[in-house]
Amino acid sequence: MAENNKTAAAGAVPAKPKPAAPGAAKPAPSKPAASSSGVFKPPVDRPEPNPYKDSRVSDLAAWFQERFYVLVPVIDYLKKKEVPKHRLSFWYYFGGLALFFFIVQIVTGLLLLQYYKPTEAEAFASFVFIQQQVPYGWLIRQIHAWSANLMVLMAFIHMFSTFFMKSYRKPRELMWVSGFILLVLCLGFGFTGYLLPWNELAFFATQVGTEVPKVAPGGAFMIDILRGGEEVSGETLTRMFSLHVVLLPGLLMLVLSAHLMLVQVLGTSSPIGYKDTGMIKGYEKFFPTFLAKDGIGWMIGFALLVYLAWAFPWEIGVKADPLISAPVGIKPEWYFWAQFQVLKDLAFEGGELLAIISLTVGGVVWMLVPFIDSKASKEEKSPAFTIFGLLVLAFLLINTFRVYLEYGW
Ligand code: HEM
Repeated sequence: MAENNKTAAAGAVPAKPKPAAPGAAKPAPSKPAASSSGVFKPPVDRPEPNPYKDSRVSDLAAWFQERFYVLVPVIDYLKKKEVPKHRLSFWYYFGGLALFFFIVQIVTGLLLLQYYKPTEAEAFASFVFIQQQVPYGWLIRQIHAWSANLMVLMAFIHMFSTFFMKSYRKPRELMWVSGFILLVLCLGFGFTGYLLPWNELAFFATQVGTEVPKVAPGGAFMIDILRGGEEVSGETLTRMFSLHVVLLPGLLMLVLSAHLMLVQVLGTSSPIGYKDTGMIKGYEKFFPTFLAKDGIGWMIGFALLVYLAWAFPWEIGVKADPLISAPVGIKPEWYFWAQFQVLKDLAFEGGELLAIISLTVGGVVWMLVPFIDSKASKEEKSPAFTIFGLLVLAFLLINTFRVYLEYGW
C-alpha cells in the first residue's frame, strides 16, 4: 500500500507533501488542481488503502476487504436493512421465487445447450437424444420446461400481489415499470423457447403466434423479421434460438439488476395505512432472517420442480412437418390464452386489429399505473385502482379458463 502511494507520487500529477510532524494538526485536503492544459485530473493518491479497515475480521476477509472496500458500506447497509412484518408479508416471497426459477433456467439451459442443435434437420432429434440417451438429460429438460412455467406463474402472482399492496406507489414507480418489462421478457422466453423442440405443436403454434401482427401497421415487416421469411422455417428456428439464448437473457439480467438494486435501495414497502394503524407487527432483518426464509421457499420450489418433472413429464411430440396442414386444437402456452381468446372472440372484419390495439393500450396503461394512481402516491387508499386490478385479474382468469374449457390442457 505504501508502495502504491510512492508510485502514485512518482507519477505525473501533484507532488507528495512532506509528512507532518507527529501530533501536528492534519492539513486540509487540497483541492484537485486542473492541469496546465486546463483538463481536470482526479487525484491519484488514496489517503487510506481501506477506510473501512476492521481488525475483528480474519486475515482472509481483510485481504478481500482491502480489494473490495467500496462494497463495505453496501454490505453494512444490507445488514441493517429490515423488512416489515404484517399479515400480508407472505406475498413478499413470490419475487424471490421468480428469481429462483430464473436461476434454474440459466443453469438447466446451459446444460441443455451442450447437446441441443438449433437446425431444422437436427433440433427434434437432439431433443429425443437429450430425453432418452444423455444421463439425466430427461430430468434437466423436464426441470427446464417446468421451471419456465413456474417462473411466469410466480412473476404473475408477484405482479398482482405488489399491485394490490400498491407497492408501485411513490417512490417505487420504477420498480413496477422494470418489473413489467421483466414480465414481458419472461413471456418472450416462453414464446421463443416453444419452437426449439421443433415438434408439430410448437411449429403450428409459432405459425399462429407470428401471424398475429399481420393486420397491424408494419405487420408484414414484423412477421418477416420474426420468421426470417414469409413462412415459419429453419430460419425462424435460428432467430428464436438466438433470441432465447442470447438477447433475452442479456436483457433480462440487465433489467433484473435494476429491479433488484431498486428493491435494495428503496427497501420493502408496507400496504397503505398499515404503519399508522399499528398493523406492522415489527421488522425483521433482511440479512439473514428474510433471506433464510427466502431460502426455505427456494428449497420448497426446488422439491416441487423435481416432483413435477418426474410425475408430469412434458411430451416431445412428433417432428414438425411444414408440408402437412395444421392439426386441430393448436393453441399457445397457457400464459397467452387470455389474449388468444380475445383474438378468437373478435374474429370479424377489423376485429383482429381492434384486439391488438386494445391489448397494447391495456398493457401500456397497466405499465403506467404508478403514474396514474396519484392517490396511492399520497399514501391515500385508492379503491378505484383496486377494482381496476380485480377487473384485469378477472379478465385474465376467465379468458384463460375459457380456453381450457374448449381445448383442455
Ligand atoms: C422475473 C421476474 C421478477 C423477478 C425475479 C422479481 C424479483 C423481485 C424481488 C426479489 C423483489 C423483492 C421481494 C418482494 O417484494 O417480492 C421484488 C420486488 C418488487 N417487484 Fe419484482 N420481480 C419480477 C417481476 C415483477 C413484475 C412483473 C412486477 C410488476 C409489474 C414487479 C414489481 C415489483 C415491485 C413493485 C416490488 C417492490 C415490492 C415492495 O417493496 O413492496 N416485479 N421483485
